[in-house]
Amino acid sequence: MMSITDQSGTRQRDRLRPRMEPGVDAGGLLVTWRATETGSQRAGADSTVQPGTAPAPLTPDEIAAVLSVGARAPSIHNTQPWLFRPHDDHIDLLADPDRQLSAVDPDGRELILSCGAALFGLRLGLRRIGRLPAVELQPDPAQPRLLARIWSAGHAASTRVETDLITAVPHRHTHRGPFSPGQVPDRLLAAMVTDAVAEGCELALIGDTKVIAELDRLIRGAAAQQQADASITAELARWVRPLHSEARDGVPATARLAENAWASQSGRAGEAAGRQVACGRLAEMALGRLAGRDFGAPGTEESGGTLPSATAVLLTAGDTTADWLRAGQALDRVLLRAAARWVFASLQSQALESACYRRAVRALLGGSGYPQMVLQFGRANTAVATPRRPHAEMLATQPAE
Ligand SMILES: Cc1cc2nc3c(=O)[nH]c(=O)nc-3n(C[C@H](O)[C@H](O)[C@H](O)COP(=O)(O)O)c2cc1C
Repeated sequence: MMSITDQSGTRQRDRLRPRMEPGVDAGGLLVTWRATETGSQRAGADSTVQPGTAPAPLTPDEIAAVLSVGARAPSIHNTQPWLFRPHDDHIDLLADPDRQLSAVDPDGRELILSCGAALFGLRLGLRRIGRLPAVELQPDPAQPRLLARIWSAGHAASTRVETDLITAVPHRHTHRGPFSPGQVPDRLLAAMVTDAVAEGCELALIGDTKVIAELDRLIRGAAAQQQADASITAELARWVRPLHSEARDGVPATARLAENAWASQSGRAGEAAGRQVACGRLAEMALGRLAGRDFGAPGTEESGGTLPSATAVLLTAGDTTADWLRAGQALDRVLLRAAARWVFASLQSQALESACYRRAVRALLGGSGYPQMVLQFGRANTAVATPRRPHAEMLATQPAE
């Protein structure tokens, strides 16, 4: 069973039609309006600049446009573990416990992170139709599955950066195949770091090749532990799709490597450490590729290619449901920022799925934050999108509890 920590306090409140204030986003974009009531967790930055505004109604077409962006978010094994409940002027985001990976993710951390990514998509979807999003995280303590309520709070044309992110939604994908030659520009890495901060997280770029090699060792250790656990391998097999599958969820063959070369070649990061260049520029952090998740069934994507340009770990200050929601929003924002420049990421979460390996990753990085995702970035020219279920299957029909 999913255990979602209740962060909202116990005070019952009138939740409908709160007054809104615009929050200044530290990244200078995606200005997130926030409910002015106290006592709830909220997305966005801390300062407010002008007095309240009433929520603005959404048409069915507008709601469909917003959901289509939310639904393209990344999720663990493409489980798409979210449910949307649209209302006239807001959309509720709920966790779908039927899609939780109870063996590999018993606390629901990765489920919530995936839902956080969908929440960022909903925010971006509202910006796509010229609305300002106002987000309340965990608005009702009595409904722990209700993760966020997102209001349409006023109108404003999207900025150039927002338009870039919206344009990247269809081609953003988790990249497991070869990277193309070419560095990830420092400016882009710096923008991704700022994006994470704007979402209340930290994107720590790892420049020390010894740390990368140790990260790789921890990932391999966690992967071996999972291989030996029949419930985890059986659960994974349920989400891995054969070639030509018509399933609209799970990891398709086109998104998996033809052979899991990275998992079978030991010491790759260690080899690359020997070839390490000077670490003065962010973009010079060319490092080895970390072991990828072995999905247990081959796909069609070739392996090899150029090594990634950058390795990073997404960190949060705490480790609560609200932190996981923030991490998910930061993840989607960073991935879209990169994809807008045809830079993509390999995601690796195996070392964070075991409490002891996660503790080791945290200690490796200095112990000041909670690791939520390991990423490697590189250039790529391919854009194979994974499938998503129709929106009708993502609509909440039951009241949340
Ligand atoms: C919380 C989380 C954990 C993930 N862990 C991994 C991982 O360990 N290995 C991997 O290859 N992809 C991982 N992914 C990527 C998902 O498999 C991917 O988002 C999903 O299959 C949908 O594909 P897309 O990102 O290309 O849209 C993870 C994604 C999320 C949100």
